[in-house]
Amino acid sequence: MTKPILLAPSILSADFATIGDVVRDLDAAGADWIHLDVMDGHFVPNISFGPDMVRAVRRLTGKTLDAHLMIAPADPYLAAFAEAGADIITVHTEAGPHLHRSLQTIRALGKRAGVAINPGTPESAIEPVLDLVDLVLVMSVNPGFGGQAFIPAVCEKIRRITAMTAGREIDIQVDGGITAETAPAAAQAGANVLVAGSAALKGGPERYRDNLAGIRQAAERATGTWA
Ligand code: DX5
Ligand code: ZN
Repeated sequence: MTKPILLAPSILSADFATIGDVVRDLDAAGADWIHLDVMDGHFVPNISFGPDMVRAVRRLTGKTLDAHLMIAPADPYLAAFAEAGADIITVHTEAGPHLHRSLQTIRALGKRAGVAINPGTPESAIEPVLDLVDLVLVMSVNPGFGGQAFIPAVCEKIRRITAMTAGREIDIQVDGGITAETAPAAAQAGANVLVAGSAALKGGPERYRDNLAGIRQAAERATGTWA
C-alpha cells in the first residue's frame, strides 16, 4: 500500500533570529514533521546547532521533531538529543564504525531510529541494519548546506531501497534540493517523507502554506495519491 506523503520542512535556511516564528508558522502551514539539521563542522563542512535548539523548538510545536545528525562521533550526544525532545534521531552510516550500537542506543532511549546515507554511499551499507531502523534518509545532495541542486541519480537508489524495505514499517525520506519540480521523481521512486529547506521557506511566512502544498501536491499527483 502506498504510504501518505509527509512534508518535513528544515529550519536550516531560516534566519535564526526569528526561529520561533518560523517553527510556529511552519506548524500552522501544514508541516507534518520539523526537520532539524545538526552539523558539527567535522563530518560536514558547516556548523549549525545542537540539542539546545531541539529543546527550544520542542516548546513551540507538537509536531514530530526529526533530528538529522550530521556529526561524528554521534554516540556521545544521542542521549542529549533524546532528552531535548527529538522524536526521530537519524545518524549517518558514514559517521562511525559502530552503526548497530548507535541505532540500538536511539531505540533504547525510546526514540525512532533513522539511518542516513550520502549520495556516494551504496544502499548495501544499510542492509545490515534494516531490523534496527524506522526510517532511511537518502541524501540527494552532499550534506552540509541548504540550497544545493538535487542529484537525480539518487532516484535509482531510492527505488532499490524501497524494494529492499518492502513489507517493513520503514519510512523512506529524501533530503536535499527538494522542490515541487524534483519531489515527483523522488516520490515515484518510493520516498514518502520529503525534506525541504529553501523551497519550504522561500518568499517568507506568508508563502509557507503554498510552498508546502505545492511540493505535497506535486508528489501526490506523481504517485497517484492526490485526491
Ligand atoms: C543538507 C541538509 C538538508 C538541507 C535541505 O545537509 O541535510 O536538510 O537543509 O535544504 P534544501 O531543501 O535547501 O536542499
Ligand atoms: Zn537534513
